[in-house]
Amino acid sequence: MNARTLKSSGAAPPEDPWARALARVRPGFALPREFYCEPEIFERERRRLFERHWHCAGHHSQVPETGDFFTTELFGESVIIVRGADHHVHALLNVCRHRGSRVCTQRAGRARGGFICPYHAWSYGLDGSLRAAARMPKGFERSHYGLRRVHCRVLEGLIFISFAEHPLGLDAVAEMLAGSAGVYGWADAQVAHRESYPVNANWKLAVENYMECYHCGPAHEEYSRFHLYARPAALNREADARVRARARELGVEIREINRYGANAPAGQESGGSLRSALAEGSVSGSENGGPLAPLMGQFKDYDGGVTFFDVGLTSDFLAYPDHGLIYRFIPRTVSSTEMEVLWLVRGNARAGTDYDPELLTWLWKVTSVADKRIIEHNQQGINSHYYQPGPYSEMEQDTRRLVDWIVAELT
Ligand code: FES
Ligand SMILES: [Fe+2]
Repeated sequence: MNARTLKSSGAAPPEDPWARALARVRPGFALPREFYCEPEIFERERRRLFERHWHCAGHHSQVPETGDFFTTELFGESVIIVRGADHHVHALLNVCRHRGSRVCTQRAGRARGGFICPYHAWSYGLDGSLRAAARMPKGFERSHYGLRRVHCRVLEGLIFISFAEHPLGLDAVAEMLAGSAGVYGWADAQVAHRESYPVNANWKLAVENYMECYHCGPAHEEYSRFHLYARPAALNREADARVRARARELGVEIREINRYGANAPAGQESGGSLRSALAEGSVSGSENGGPLAPLMGQFKDYDGGVTFFDVGLTSDFLAYPDHGLIYRFIPRTVSSTEMEVLWLVRGNARAGTDYDPELLTWLWKVTSVADKRIIEHNQQGINSHYYQPGPYSEMEQDTRRLVDWIVAELT
């Protein structure tokens, strides 16, 4: 419904910004402007979506030894991911329990015994417990002032965190990941490269763009050369069947499970996986379709396919037999998002000997730079008061499902 129809129907626009935005949503059409520009809706998303769901924070090879840590920021909250003395991975809120300073100001490193707040030197253990606080009055109870923790689970090497008090279940996701990341040996992988792309756009525009390949033909000449996913699905049935048969011949069983978005079982985090063929003769996501790195997991040979999988709202992954990618969409403000991309290779592969880092990262660097550009153009157009949502094409049905799911969850 637009301003003109409201006027002609004589109905007054709802007062509440959310009710007003919701009244303008049209099934099968892109979302109205408010969803990408209004801080109130961003705040509603933070409370109703982000605190409830799980988000991939990285890969456990980023914290191999006790004391290894990195910090990550999600929706304005800084979290320390650290390998504890118990060798488990913990997620600690980076807010001092004294007067609230950031405790850890480094992006990554090795904390010998724990973390010392730079303000008044309260000292915390690797599990967040408060070890020492000088000159506090009698009766001060240290055990009440540990760093707050958020839920943290490692599945197939992937670190997931949730800010919820009672987060969604992860059983369905664990099963999906065992049949995708697990088959590709991601628990034994290492991060070969990390790249961060600041995107001046609302986080939904970045994820919506990731979920469709209608734009791949016009925007990603490099990707479209060898990835048949860039074409309408109806053209790929034979090629996709060939890749599934080839994987079976290799004794590799990758499960395709669609429990993404509204398909997720009640109370469970959403997750889905999907196989797709590369063009005949190509085997990996490289400049020429050729191999890039040592084979991973159960693969003794290439199957000519790629597996896409997703968890929740912000975490997307893709796996080739010789390398993998983690895509993290990190909402910052209503109009800024960080897109972090991590490249995975086999745990014992050596840069320069077993793979060339430049060749390994080439395709998804050019693709991410192009995506950043088109997502920002999208936001710039939506900022205009003349923007009116248009209808989705048949190649944007996953984006449509994502958007329907987000609106349903916010409602
Ligand atoms: S704010 Fe951290 S010790 Fe005072
Ligand atoms: Fe893209």
